[in-house]
Amino acid sequence: MGRKQVVERSHQAFHMARTLTYLGELKLLNSFTKLFRPWVEVPENHPDKALRPFLLKDMEELFRHDAGLFSSGILPLPLLAPESPIEHGKRLARILYTGVKMSRLRKVRESKPKVEKPDLPEYFVRNFHWQIDGYLSDESAAVYDHQVEILFTGTAAAMRRLIFSPLSDFLKNFDGKADILELASGTGELSAAVNMAYPKHHLTVTDLSAPYLALAQKRLRGQEVDFVRAAAEELPFKDASQDVIYSVFLFHELPSEIREKALAEAFRVLRPGGLFIMVDSIQKDEVPEYAWALEKFPVDFHEPFYKSYIQWPVEAALTKHNFTHVESRRGFFSKCVWGTKPS
Ligand SMILES: C[S@@+](CC[C@H](N)C(=O)[O-])C[C@H]1O[C@@H](n2cnc3c(N)ncnc32)[C@H](O)[C@@H]1O
Repeated sequence: MGRKQVVERSHQAFHMARTLTYLGELKLLNSFTKLFRPWVEVPENHPDKALRPFLLKDMEELFRHDAGLFSSGILPLPLLAPESPIEHGKRLARILYTGVKMSRLRKVRESKPKVEKPDLPEYFVRNFHWQIDGYLSDESAAVYDHQVEILFTGTAAAMRRLIFSPLSDFLKNFDGKADILELASGTGELSAAVNMAYPKHHLTVTDLSAPYLALAQKRLRGQEVDFVRAAAEELPFKDASQDVIYSVFLFHELPSEIREKALAEAFRVLRPGGLFIMVDSIQKDEVPEYAWALEKFPVDFHEPFYKSYIQWPVEAALTKHNFTHVESRRGFFSKCVWGTKPS
């Protein structure tokens, strides 16, 4: 068996184990919440049985693409090193506890974190995903990635990594040191992957949430990466100062006028010839088999701008903002869209 096959088989085994683990944790979380809050409706992520073969094949397709990134050497294998089971277990315990607290918010439907944050935009100060403090506390940041993997049964990291196909195509022809800017990094899972894959380029990581950015900074401690708290719609960077700008799972959390501003800002800050990449949810009518999920997601997970996001075709939006060579690739529940600022 050649190296390529060994990597692909190991990737498959690793992700199968990961998916089963997170699926088990999702069931545990739902049962635990029901035990303490029997009256609360917990989100059931399972489609009807007839859809399962499609779902599994689609997930497999995402993992096959992801395995290709590793077997072709675009991504380094240490990125797949599993974390300590003790750390994982401790965090799961926190998630179970938080899950019960969050279920109280499910009952009231709309709520806002009880914090005074006059410097933050009003649309941002919310309990996205029913997180107790929204994006505004260390506790929320500490459990965020794990919660997202539970929600997507272990596929979130591979969906984020969809950015690497267009990114690697761009960088392999790039002369010199590229300036790469990440918008809305969250707690830096993808930032760490980008920096591990491209240590010779320069990465700047941004997010509007101070606690999330602080965790990203801690994760990348000692690496030559810059961290700047910034709103995607008002970037504190000069015109034409970056070669690549990317963001993952940001745009569905923005009101429509802010989405437009964020695209305009990305265009302004990119150098001519620069690349913009984003990954976010699939959109309305793209995958009829997932219509149920697109309907349920904003209600189950408190996503006030999601419904309008899925009706905003991203490819057309990029073209409207003067990006050219706009392309997209779907991976499970997400879609990667990219375009170039004309030279
Ligand atoms: C769903 S999370 C995605 C985080 C991360 N990119 C990931 O892949 O998990 C959305 C992130 O967007 C950030 N965010 C929301 N509105 C923002 C804005 N206007 N500008 C910058 N970041 C924002 C939040 O703080 C949060 O970290």
